[in-house]
Amino acid sequence: MLNVSSVLVTGANRGIGLELVRQLASLEPKISHIIATCRNPDAAKELKAIAKTSNNVHILKLEVTDYNSFDAFYAEVEKIVGSSGLDILINNAGIAIMTPLDEATPEEFMKNYEVNVIGPYVLARKLIPLIKVSQRKLYILMSSIAGSIECTSEILGGFPAYRASKAAINIITRTYADYIKKDGVTSVMLFPGWVKTELGGPHAILEADFAVSNMIKTISTLNAENNGCFIDYEGKTVPW
Ligand SMILES: NC(=O)c1ccc[n+]([C@@H]2O[C@H](COP(=O)([O-])OP(=O)(O)OC[C@H]3O[C@@H](n4cnc5c(N)ncnc54)[C@H](OP(=O)(O)O)[C@@H]3O)[C@@H](O)[C@H]2O)c1
Repeated sequence: MLNVSSVLVTGANRGIGLELVRQLASLEPKISHIIATCRNPDAAKELKAIAKTSNNVHILKLEVTDYNSFDAFYAEVEKIVGSSGLDILINNAGIAIMTPLDEATPEEFMKNYEVNVIGPYVLARKLIPLIKVSQRKLYILMSSIAGSIECTSEILGGFPAYRASKAAINIITRTYADYIKKDGVTSVMLFPGWVKTELGGPHAILEADFAVSNMIKTISTLNAENNGCFIDYEGKTVPW
């Protein structure tokens, strides 16, 4: 049971992020505040429909590469969660530029790096003061087996820009996990499985509702012993 007061999900207007908000909003006991971020709230029709029927869902605008907006964003989150802090941050927003090994451009590497590495890391650092005063103190980084060096042969294609970005955010998050455990924060890298979304594509093997319900079950079991782990939606260890 995910017994928490607040969860923040980035990239919540579609795909895994949207499904997370949909399922979190229907959980009992009710989560007091589900903060769902997206780049363009006006266009986020499905997310707005959830917020209309669930008064615990707050939609905030966030572009994860707009680092200068993070101070104002922090203030908005703090206003919502108050002195109880933020129980769970799910850094989910991401992109996958899937250009093959012999075609990936420097610009594609940089774009993947900005959105999947610098954005989530700087955002996590910004929000840590709110997480560390919460009850649950949990930081989830949506990673991918595509960033696993031990599993390179299990995924066809090269996709170096995407894979390098996920490997990079893994080492940064793993290192950061060691650093913030002094504040009681548990940090986990979570592979959602290969999920049918715009990013995962139509040939993916998991439906988003199945992957997300398993992820929520897994997240609810996490504790300090899992700090720095790389696991999948079912809680199984993903090799580095
Ligand atoms: N689907 C899979 O099979 C799979 C597998 C492994 C890992 N993952 C990871 O799971 C996470 C979610 O993936 P998904 O499949 O749900 O992808 P998706 O359907 O393509 O959704 C991506 C989300 O990220 C947002 N986003 C992209 N760039 C952003 C930026 N610069 N600032 C803020 N938000 C941004 C998108 O917003 P816009 O609509 O505004 O673009 C969208 O809400 C990603 O981190 C991905 O790497 C997915």
